[in-house]
Amino acid sequence: MTPNADVIAGVGLKERPRKSRWPARMDVAQSVSGLLLGLFMWGHMFFVSSILVSEKFMWTITKMFEGYFFFGKPYPIIVSGVVAVIIILFVMHALLALRKFPANYRQYQAFSAHRKLFGHTDTTLWWLQFLTGFALFFLASPHLFQMLVHPGLIGPFESSDRVWSGGWWPLYLILLFVVELHGGIGLYRLAVKWGWLSGADADASRRRLQRAKWALTIFFLVLGLATLAAYMKIGYAHRDKVGELYVPPAQQQEVGK
Ligand code: HEM
Repeated sequence: MTPNADVIAGVGLKERPRKSRWPARMDVAQSVSGLLLGLFMWGHMFFVSSILVSEKFMWTITKMFEGYFFFGKPYPIIVSGVVAVIIILFVMHALLALRKFPANYRQYQAFSAHRKLFGHTDTTLWWLQFLTGFALFFLASPHLFQMLVHPGLIGPFESSDRVWSGGWWPLYLILLFVVELHGGIGLYRLAVKWGWLSGADADASRRRLQRAKWALTIFFLVLGLATLAAYMKIGYAHRDKVGELYVPPAQQQEVGK
């Protein structure tokens, strides 16, 4: 064999006593990191939407994460710690997903031709997940970095000022659609891949899972849009007082005594 042929065949591969388990391990790692990120996103959307209840309620949730009710003092560094874990999961998940990206135009053409030929919903969903996943590299990174370095600037006025006066709302609007599509398809694909919630009739359970997937995506999109609108509204009303931190009514009275 020539050296070139060796490289093409994979040096030493044919002498290997057994096949590598690493591709399977990487698949499990990708599924687990995706599941954790998906579950985190559900929690995140509920916590962030606390603003729909009241400014005071959102403040309470924020301070809870900063350990205020436990230590008697807020420690925003705790939030940075959580963000750091999410960043590690996010990077790991993205790195593992890179294996599945078409590596050149020929691979892309082959996939594209198969997708059109099959006309199968799940193959099209995979393509949508690839596109939204790629967009997330760029859309989620600024948000995560902001949360990592300024955890103390999360709150009813602080977040609303960022969304409106800081001009973050267009990014959040696009990110919301991209992440909800990506997460919804991802969790659906996980269920199909590992056989969760599958009944005796595979086709019927797929249809059921797809309906559940769309229902969840629509629910989180509506919740997210209402939440974003609330931050924009508060931010607009607060535009002349940008930078003023939120103080809950009870503490304002204490300061005023
Ligand atoms: C621990 C990590 C995270 C924290 C602490 C966090 C926190 C927040 C907060 C406080 C807001 C309200 C706006 C603001 O203050 O700027 C927000 C909004 C948002 N975040 Fe995150 N976030 C995190 C991770 C993520 C990730 C990983 C994604 C998606 C990949 C994401 C997507 C969004 C979206 C789409 C909005 C707009 C919400 C809406 O329209 O309802 N966040 N986040």
